[in-house]
Amino acid sequence: KRVAIVGCPFSGGQARGGVDFGPEHMINAGLIDQVKELGWDVTFEGHQQFEQLKPAANEDPDVGRLKNPRYVSAVTKAVSGVVEKHCKRGEFPLTVGGDHSLAIGTVSGVMAAYPDACLVWVDAHADINTPHSTPSGNIHGCPLSFVTGAAEPCPDVFSWVPKCLPFERIAYIGLRDLDPVEKQILRENNVCAYTMHHVDKYGIGRVVEMALERINPGLQRPIHLSFDVDAMDPAVAPATGTPVRGGLTWREGMYICEALHETGKLVAMDLMEVNPVLGASEQEVQATVHAGLSLARCALGETLL
Ligand code: ARG
Ligand code: MN
Ligand code: MN
Ligand code: MN
Repeated sequence: KRVAIVGCPFSGGQARGGVDFGPEHMINAGLIDQVKELGWDVTFEGHQQFEQLKPAANEDPDVGRLKNPRYVSAVTKAVSGVVEKHCKRGEFPLTVGGDHSLAIGTVSGVMAAYPDACLVWVDAHADINTPHSTPSGNIHGCPLSFVTGAAEPCPDVFSWVPKCLPFERIAYIGLRDLDPVEKQILRENNVCAYTMHHVDKYGIGRVVEMALERINPGLQRPIHLSFDVDAMDPAVAPATGTPVRGGLTWREGMYICEALHETGKLVAMDLMEVNPVLGASEQEVQATVHAGLSLARCALGETLL
């Protein structure tokens, strides 16, 4: 069994610099050795190179409200191919971001290799704004509208993105900051969504169990986990671009990853939005990086005993 670490130093899906340094910090803090210690073989071919995909200044004007659309499209298309390739080799792609627009690539790549897969999206945000509804124009708030078809018709720049993920196969955990149209999309499509209110009410154990019963009954489907570190409470993971108070505790976050590992059906993980530049202190940066490392280890089989 082999993990392929896909380092994605990319920040074009949002406005704050620094999230492109996330992968480098995760690698330097020991990600590769920690994964090896869990018994995996590890492939890491260096971080993805996106510079040559970046349009020249003035050559990537907004499309509608979307910012950097051509750059985000080119990068996520490349990532999609890389993730698909690793999956088809039987490897477990661990994609380390970078901002969450990268999930346009990871989700489409996983779905190309495993068309019946389901997605667990752990995030403070639903990231399902459409090109029309996005209040910020930041594409990291939109990836799920592209892959589900909520953004139909897809803007021309993103015409390569397949509508590959049915709403019935998404489960959200940790939500607490949604825009009005996002709430509407989740309600109208009856999407499985556990907010922090549900985590409080049922406990994280029951929430994960209910989420899997709903999108993956009998655990027939491969599972892709897309983890935005801002799902964690800012006390645990402060160094991120869009922190929202009232998030997952350390153990709640780790539990989700442990429980998904235990299913034996996890085939891919994303770890997104670690922004080492945004810590108020070196200690906040370290805390966030260590939370990210621990989440990855838990998803790859680390246990407490
Ligand atoms: N809903 C807001 C937006 O669309 C925030 C999105 C934050 N997304 C993230 N991946 N951190 O702009
Ligand atoms: Mn988020
Ligand atoms: Mn908001
Ligand atoms: Mn996100």
